[in-house]
Amino acid sequence: MKIAIILGTRPEIIKMWSIIHQLHEQKSDYLIIHTNQHYSSNMNEVFFQSLRLPLPHHNLHVGSDTQGKQIALMLTKIKEILVKEKPDCVMVAGDTNTVLGGALAASQLGIKIAHVEAGLRSFDSTMPEEINRILTDHLSDYLFAPTKTQEKHLLYEEVSPQKIHIVGNSVADAVLGHLKDVKKIDYLPKHSLRKQEYFLITIHRAENTDNKERLQKLLKSLEKVYQKYGQTLFYPIHPRTKKRIAEFKLKVPKGVILSDPLDYFEFLQLIENAKVVLTDSGGVQEEACILKTPCLTLRDNTERPETVEVGANIIAGTKPAKILSSIKLMMESKRNWISPFGNGDTGKKIIDIIQKDFNSLS
Ligand code: UD1
Ligand code: UDP
Repeated sequence: MKIAIILGTRPEIIKMWSIIHQLHEQKSDYLIIHTNQHYSSNMNEVFFQSLRLPLPHHNLHVGSDTQGKQIALMLTKIKEILVKEKPDCVMVAGDTNTVLGGALAASQLGIKIAHVEAGLRSFDSTMPEEINRILTDHLSDYLFAPTKTQEKHLLYEEVSPQKIHIVGNSVADAVLGHLKDVKKIDYLPKHSLRKQEYFLITIHRAENTDNKERLQKLLKSLEKVYQKYGQTLFYPIHPRTKKRIAEFKLKVPKGVILSDPLDYFEFLQLIENAKVVLTDSGGVQEEACILKTPCLTLRDNTERPETVEVGANIIAGTKPAKILSSIKLMMESKRNWISPFGNGDTGKKIIDIIQKDFNSLS
């Protein structure tokens, strides 16, 4: 059987690592279709190199446009490739425009769809990611849920139980599979950082960056954190946020050190050694939990509630008072939670399930 892996952004490359690795090791028939939703070298090529992934077989060059245009172009171009390549199954991971574009293309051609990271819900339909993940789940034939929480959401939405498989989270595969690489080089001196003496920041979600007042409030909160703790807030900034800060003419407060987006191993090391991580990223919430670093989610909800339940994460919103009180709480954490995301064999489980199912049909 032939599997088409569709990916397009930084987190999808990371989530697909163990799956591609597994297919490659087995010498299985597969291809990678890259939409290039992320195209800057430090959001794209860097991850293929570090993770030693084979280069994509097809690059679609669909980046930087409105959500509507991105999805429409991806759908059209992916369909053309699928018609030629004739895979038996298309695999997508997460909740980006690439994921929905890929799932729509496969569904229109009657090709089976596997959704990695199925069943996550923020219950906030104003987020583009929430719409992408709900639609993709309901188009999919294999729904790979990280934990029981997502299974519950899917059953509530009347997804057939036979389609749902609880397999852990493939982000855990990427983290646990590279712990040695992460420790090979000490990256902290390069950024003048010392263990446990800095906060790590990432902010890039549309709901936080596209609204001037909200982004301004977030920057104000970072300023207050620096005023209270006097320690660096290190922020590898996403190009979307960089663009918005310039467009809105906002000032980055004292104490916040900006850098370009970092390579994966370097970034994981910075998570591992941070006092607390402050983020609106999905993947970073999971990685902080896996690496035992306390996390604050700078949003009003999370689709990763397990991280909160185990005590690794607090939904801190954007207001200074809540952020400061949450940091205080998290600094007292004993960091003794157990990661709910599995032990690093999610990719293998996913491939085994799909291959077994196809073998039983042939
Ligand atoms: C997308 C996902 C988001 C995910 C994030 C991961 C959707 C709806 N959103 O958001 O869920 O968390 O990826 O990082 O799919 N840009 C560059 N270089 C790049 C990529 C983007 O400069 O390589 C800039 C462009 O100005 C672009 C903007 O960032 O317009 C937004 O990029 P886009 O891919 O539309 O969404 P993300 O914000 O990256
Ligand atoms: N990441 C990285 N370098 C950075 C920032 C993030 O390697 O400078 C990784 C991070 O470890 C995680 C992924 O990118 O695996 C998360 O991507 P992002 O926050 O852009 O997207 P989300 O997870 O919110 O969809």
